[in-house]
Amino acid sequence: MISNELQKELITQLNKEYHSAYIYLGMSAYCSKEGFNGAANWFLIQYQEEVAHGMKLFKYLEDQDVEIQLPSIESVEVEYKSLLDVFKKSLAHEQKMTKNLNILSDLAMKDKDHATYNLLQWYVTEQVEEEATVKAIIDHIKLVGDNGYGLYTIDKELSGRTFTDPTAN
Ligand code: FEO
Repeated sequence: MISNELQKELITQLNKEYHSAYIYLGMSAYCSKEGFNGAANWFLIQYQEEVAHGMKLFKYLEDQDVEIQLPSIESVEVEYKSLLDVFKKSLAHEQKMTKNLNILSDLAMKDKDHATYNLLQWYVTEQVEEEATVKAIIDHIKLVGDNGYGLYTIDKELSGRTFTDPTAN
């Protein structure tokens, strides 16, 4: 049985996963508007990943007989300064998510709720990969600076990203 406090926090986390999806949809829209179609594709896949994160948590809450609440999803930014800016904001967002997941893990540990703690560790591990991927893209963009051909090449690389369900394993 998940404690009431933890149930409330997990539902907030569920909302945050869908909010993350929405943020990435906005980032995809920005990139598409600016002609970075590869980056638009990359963020669209990021959107799909966040939906999968949300679904994993949703299913867990259902399995644990938690009464599901679905609060409204906060509106998101769709304007950014540059390709670098949009990826930097993406990293800052993921770092915030990691912090939240650590707080949730602490709470599950305090409650001796091993099942929820285990679930949260899946998310914590996923965050490490997400942050590392975005950091590598940021480094790459910084390297080329304002060079049009460099940005074109990065955008082309980002167009190759395809969706693999992160929750499938
Ligand atoms: Fe589901 Fe990128 O955090």
